[in-house]
Amino acid sequence: MMQSPFSLTDKTILVTGASSGIGRATAIECSRLGAHLVLTGRNVGRLEETLSMLAGDGHVVIAADLTVEEDIDALVEALQPVDGLVLCSGMGMMTPVQFSTRKKLMEVFDTNFLYPVELMRRMLKKKKVASPASIVAVASMGGTHFFTVGNGAYGASKAALDSFMKFAARELASKSIRVNTVLPAMIDTPLIHRGAVSDEDHAADALTYPLRRYGRPEEVAYAIIYLLSDASAWTTGSSLIIDGGKSLV
Ligand SMILES: NC(=O)c1ccc[n+]([C@@H]2O[C@H](COP(=O)([O-])OP(=O)(O)OC[C@H]3O[C@@H](n4cnc5c(N)ncnc54)[C@H](OP(=O)(O)O)[C@@H]3O)[C@@H](O)[C@H]2O)c1
Repeated sequence: MMQSPFSLTDKTILVTGASSGIGRATAIECSRLGAHLVLTGRNVGRLEETLSMLAGDGHVVIAADLTVEEDIDALVEALQPVDGLVLCSGMGMMTPVQFSTRKKLMEVFDTNFLYPVELMRRMLKKKKVASPASIVAVASMGGTHFFTVGNGAYGASKAALDSFMKFAARELASKSIRVNTVLPAMIDTPLIHRGAVSDEDHAADALTYPLRRYGRPEEVAYAIIYLLSDASAWTTGSSLIIDGGKSLV
């Protein structure tokens, strides 16, 4: 039988932010399609938990704080060349413009933009990205389409990530390395429950989406899988919206 173009059989895929939410769901779903996973994040206990949820074998955990240069170096050093890289680690931050100090902006830009890009750069430099390969970064509708009050620091960091990946797509195409982003709207993960918004307010907001609910982490994972797989072999530099129809409203 012919192999599905969506299969990830025997592809090695590094997922950052694999200890929680979208990254964890991505790792699980990739493993079900035959991939070997390298899981990274800071929390070793939750990374091991993700590991225990994976199908198949040949998976590894390499804990790293991706805002610490030495951790990035150690991670890159430990890697074999990967066929897929999912840049999913990130943090939320709600802060009005007049409180968006340089310190706060640097924190969110470090985590969501500068260090994910630095990890990619070092992997490319050290030839830890195979050819062909696919890189997928998790940006956000909150950076490119929705301009929610108080979300400027976060949104700008994600817009920068989305933009940079398009330049990377152009430059890396000659090496058969594709680069795309996904743009989720609100997805029900621990991230959205850490801020000041109550569960009641989230529930009311979810009803403003045409599909009448927030997304589930695996629904972002499926889009990432499309971009990682050979099914998207002619897609690079794209930003895939996953928003339950919210941008139509
Ligand atoms: N949930 C949403 O509504 C939504 C919407 C659009 C985009 N996104 C984006 O989707 C991505 C995943 O978010 P999520 O919703 O799944 O959130 P989450 O459950 O809070 O997961 C965030 C992940 O990022 C990792 N991380 C954060 N800072 C890190 C650092 N310095 N070094 C290494 N890893 C770090 C965390 O690792 P540890 O826990 O191990 O520290 C965790 O695995 C983020 O980039 C987020 O901005 C989320």
